[in-house]
Amino acid sequence: MDLPQANQELESLLNYLKNSRGCDLTGYKRSSLLRRFRFRMQQININSYQEYLKYLQNNSEEWLTLLNTVLINYTGFFRDRSSWDYLAKEIIPKIIASKQKNESIRVWVAGCASGEEVYSLVMLWAEALGIESCLERVQFYATDIDEEAIKEARQATYQSNPVRELSPDDDPTLDIVPHTELTGISPYLLNKYFQHHKDSYTFDPQLRRTIIFARHDLVKNAPISKIDLLVCRNVLIYFTPEYQATIFVRFHFALKDTGFLFLGKAESIINNRAIFTPISLKHRIYAKGLDLDLNDHLLINPKTHFKRSNERQDSKNFFWQTAFEINPLPQIAVNLHNYLIDANEAAHLLFGLKLDDLNRPFNQLELSKLVGEMKTFYENPHQVTLTDVEWHTATDTKYFDISIVPVYDKKKTLLGAILTFSDSVYKLHN
Ligand SMILES: C[S@@+](CC[C@H](N)C(=O)[O-])C[C@H]1O[C@@H](n2cnc3c(N)ncnc32)[C@H](O)[C@@H]1O
Repeated sequence: MDLPQANQELESLLNYLKNSRGCDLTGYKRSSLLRRFRFRMQQININSYQEYLKYLQNNSEEWLTLLNTVLINYTGFFRDRSSWDYLAKEIIPKIIASKQKNESIRVWVAGCASGEEVYSLVMLWAEALGIESCLERVQFYATDIDEEAIKEARQATYQSNPVRELSPDDDPTLDIVPHTELTGISPYLLNKYFQHHKDSYTFDPQLRRTIIFARHDLVKNAPISKIDLLVCRNVLIYFTPEYQATIFVRFHFALKDTGFLFLGKAESIINNRAIFTPISLKHRIYAKGLDLDLNDHLLINPKTHFKRSNERQDSKNFFWQTAFEINPLPQIAVNLHNYLIDANEAAHLLFGLKLDDLNRPFNQLELSKLVGEMKTFYENPHQVTLTDVEWHTATDTKYFDISIVPVYDKKKTLLGAILTFSDSVYKLHN
C-alpha cells in the first residue's frame, strides 16, 4: 500500500475511535501511533488499517487490547534517580519554606500509570515533613486516562518476584529490562513505607489515603488547580507539538504562582512565550513564568483550538466564552425550555458529561437531581443558593453549594439560569 493511502486509512481509523469510542488519539504523534498500531496488527496478522478497522468493529474486546498497546503504561519507582534526588534536595524544601507552618500542600501526578511515581512522591514528602505532618498537610492527586492502570495504582501492591525475561512476543520498541516491580526503592524506604507479604509489598494504607486517584484526560479535561508541584513525566512525548502547547497552558493554569513542574527526561516546554522558566534544565524542572495571555487561554478551549486567527475579531465573545470554560468552579447553563445548553470543562469533568449531553433535557441528566425542578427558581428574579447539597458517586460523597442565577435579556425576558457548584473538587474524600 502506498504511503498517502496508508495515512488516510490510519486517519479514518483514528476518526472511528474518536467518534464511536470517545477515544481521541488524533493529538498523538503519528510516528509513535504508527509503530504501536503496526505492532498490534502484526500480532494478529493484519496488514492494513482498513482491515484492522473492520476487525475492531467486529471484535468488541479488541478495543481494550489496542488501548493497552497504544497507551504505554511503562513506569517505575524513582525513574531517573538523579532527578528525583534533585527534587528531594532542592525543590521540595523550597515549597515547604514558602508555606506557613500548617499550610496545606497540593501535588498532582498526571499520567500516573500504575502508581509507582505517586508513591515515590509520597515517600519523598513523608521523609521531608515527617509522616504525621505529611498525612495532615499534603493532598496528592494521581490521574491517568487509562482506567485499568488507575485500578492497579489504587491497589498499591507490587510484586517482589523478578519480572519475566523478554520473550520474542514482547514489543521490541519498549525498553523493558528484567527487574522486579519494586526496583528503584531503597531497602530503607521499602521497610519503612511498605507492608511485606509473601511475594509482594503493599504501600502504607494510611499514607495511601492522602492520594485521590481519578481518570483524567489531559487533552479534554479541565486541570486540577492550586497545585504546588505538578509531575507529568513521559506522557507528553506521545503528543504532537500543538497538543503539547495546549497542555502546557493547562499546566500553567493548574499551578500556583509559586508552583513547580517536573517533566520527563526527554521532554521540554513548547510555547512561543516563556510561560515556564527552567529551574534545572538537566532535571526538567520548571517554575511558572509569564502570565497567560488571551491567546494562551483560547488554546485551552477545544472548541476554539486551531481556529484562533480568523475568529479573533470576535474577541469579546471569546473572552467571556473562555472565562466560562476555564472557570475552576463547575458551571452549567440551562435554558427556559429546560435544556442543558452549555457546561464548562470543570462541570464536564465533575459530572462526567459528554458532548451528547449538551442540548439534552436537563431533567434527564443525573445531576438535575441536585436541584430538582428548575421552574421553582424562576418564581423570583434573584439568585438562590442551595447549601451543602450531597452528591454520591460510586467512590465518594461530595458536598456543594449551588448558586442558581436567573438570566434575563435587556427587555427583562427570562432566558434561563446559570448554575455554579462550589467546594466541589476540594471537598473530595477518598
Ligand atoms: C509511559 S507512561 C508514564 C508513566 C509515569 N508518568 C512515568 O514516567 O513513569 C504514560 C502514561 O500516560 C498516560 N496517558 C496517555 N495519554 C494520556 C492522556 N491524554 N491523559 C492522561 N494520561 C495519558 C498513559 O495511560 C500512561 O499511563
